[in-house]
Amino acid sequence: MSRLSGTGMTLAYDKRVIAEELSVDIPDGSFTVIIGPNACGKSTLLRALARLLKPAVGTVLLDGSDVHTLPTRTVARTLGLLPQSSTAPDGITVAELVARGRYPHQSLLRRWSTEDETVVTESMAATGVGDLADRSVDELSGGQRQRVWIAMALAQQTPLLLLDEPTTYLDIAHQIEVLDLCADLHEKQGRTLVAVLHDLNHAARYATHLIAMRGGRVARAGAPADVLTAALVEEVFGLPCRVIDDPETGTPLVVPAARKKSSAHAEV
Ligand SMILES: Nc1ncnc2c1ncn2[C@@H]1O[C@H](COP(=O)(O)OP(=O)(O)O)[C@@H](O)[C@H]1O
Ligand SMILES: [Mg+2]
Repeated sequence: MSRLSGTGMTLAYDKRVIAEELSVDIPDGSFTVIIGPNACGKSTLLRALARLLKPAVGTVLLDGSDVHTLPTRTVARTLGLLPQSSTAPDGITVAELVARGRYPHQSLLRRWSTEDETVVTESMAATGVGDLADRSVDELSGGQRQRVWIAMALAQQTPLLLLDEPTTYLDIAHQIEVLDLCADLHEKQGRTLVAVLHDLNHAARYATHLIAMRGGRVARAGAPADVLTAALVEEVFGLPCRVIDDPETGTPLVVPAARKKSSAHAEV
């Protein structure tokens, strides 16, 4: 059994049901990527897995226990979530925000240590925000801020890390940089990662396990090459496309069908 799974979940906000009978399994040591159209419930699922939303029906198991029965500190040391939109406290500096990732490791008896300091410095270096350490988070660009949040999640040093759209606001080079960093964490440190991504081609390149969602349900889950077919993309996104081999990696590459020109123009 894997460390993190959700079974038979009904996920709802008050009476508004987003998902029913939703089950997902996050394979240990995987880089799991979740894809799906806007509002299909990806963030809601991540919130449920991270214990921020209690399923109305069903359970989330973390290391064999219902996540809602586990102490907050235990969950925080095991599983980190980078939410889709995070707001930093006014005036907080980069180093201070990243240091908050260390809170779950502290206690009355164990205050700030040199180890905490080292982890914070390393996390900032890994995401390329070391030079920004003393800057106020408010005054950063969207991309810089996103990398600071990732640094905070890294500083938490959890074996499981959930990232909701970590590449949003980043230019293409920084998107690849963040995904490479995630792949390193997964390959070299054996961490289990779950990320929501919108770019299907990035999903296909980086995921070891792909979950395609639509309307609060899992349309398909498995190896990217099995999941990411033209039929699946059409079914889930309503987008006609071709799927070819990525010339760089051989993974599925989704090429949307060209727009059909109106006949009046086509003849010109
Ligand atoms: N706090 C909330 N209260 C009520 N409805 C919400 C809340 N958050 C999200 N929703 C709704 O739940 C649905 C799924 O949202 P979400 O999980 O954020 O989708 P995704 O991340 O796939 O874009 C959407 O229809 C959204 O409007
Ligand atoms: Mg979302």
